Amino acid sequence: MNRTLRENIDWVGHVDWTVRDFHGYDTARGATYNAYLVRDDQTALIDAVKAPYADELLGSIAALTDLSGVKFVVCNHAEPDHAGGLPRVMAALPNAALVCDKKCATALSQHHDTTGWKMRIVATGDTISLGRRTLQFLETPMVHWPESMFTYVPEEKLLFSMDAFGQHYATSQRFDDEVPLGTVMEEAKIYYANIVMPFGKQVAALLKKTAGLDIGMIAPAHGVIWRKHIPVILEAYQNWADCRPKPKVLVIYDTMWDSTGRMARAILAGASQPGVEAQLIHIRHSSLTRIATEVLDAAAVAFGSSTLNQGLMPMAGAVLTYLKGLRPVGKVGFAFGSHGWSGGGPEAVNEYLRAMKWEVPREPLKAQYRPTPNVLDECRAVGGMLAEKAREMAADRKVGGRQCNEP
Ligand code: FEO
Repeated sequence: MNRTLRENIDWVGHVDWTVRDFHGYDTARGATYNAYLVRDDQTALIDAVKAPYADELLGSIAALTDLSGVKFVVCNHAEPDHAGGLPRVMAALPNAALVCDKKCATALSQHHDTTGWKMRIVATGDTISLGRRTLQFLETPMVHWPESMFTYVPEEKLLFSMDAFGQHYATSQRFDDEVPLGTVMEEAKIYYANIVMPFGKQVAALLKKTAGLDIGMIAPAHGVIWRKHIPVILEAYQNWADCRPKPKVLVIYDTMWDSTGRMARAILAGASQPGVEAQLIHIRHSSLTRIATEVLDAAAVAFGSSTLNQGLMPMAGAVLTYLKGLRPVGKVGFAFGSHGWSGGGPEAVNEYLRAMKWEVPREPLKAQYRPTPNVLDECRAVGGMLAEKAREMAADRKVGGRQCNEP
């Protein structure tokens, strides 16, 4: 495995081949927790790893240098998948100061006993000279925690970007040009949708700031390092942060006795038009992770639920709760579903769509017990309307409902 980013700058992280869950996010391709060692007149460790892998990290450092020679441990992000190993690491590096911003110091003290740690608090614009190279700090609040920070090495045009531009992707390779680009971009999209999406406004601001940096390599805290396809990942982040929709209609549903399923398939048939990507997603045959990823760049979403106990099907409720938290912005939404002797399912869907401030052009479409031919005709017509809207939105780069990056 080639671990060397630049002369005397090496990857010392952990590849987690078997992890399949990251607090509810399906990590189908595993994950990596990236840490980097910058050896110069003074040596700095950039980020750490999850707690169980701290000894492996220390072993990788020891293979390159004496542990007593590490002078700085930079913590760009306090979340435990990176900072969980810090107590073990700080105990093993007797001469190291922990370098982080003020909010990170507070967060670390709330996760760990930091009383014995030498702390060096930095803020945007501060620098630490290692000798030939410099560490330059840029706070990136809410991308995606309050204390998040980038570390830039101008002499190497190297950006340590913490979670941003990352992917949950276990591989024996370390660089973007050593693996299929389609796979990396698929995982980068899944990562953005499920971790970063609520913070599009902050990402857009950050991209403006980083445009002023001369970047030749981006080393995130997860997945492969960007050295060949930097413009590809930067453009993708810009598109996602700007909520640019594709001509894409999703029909997402859960159904009890297939009445809502029949409606969903009729909507799909109406939406299946030239130039429009239409997808049917049965919630219990899919996952929160995949659904959020598909919603990220969809222009229109038809969401259906049968009525169960005067409300939503439970997994439909889970998906809507998850989506509402991720705050996908600028979609056109439409609620539909069936009911028996009481209503409740489609109405509850509609409340979620409105709570997300999507454009909701019509009231929910409902069927009692079984959709009649007239109801199915109406479903097809709504599908056609959503396809037309999706085409227009993608062509004009317009978004529906709340405008992109509005608070
Ligand atoms: Fe990879 Fe936000 O931790």
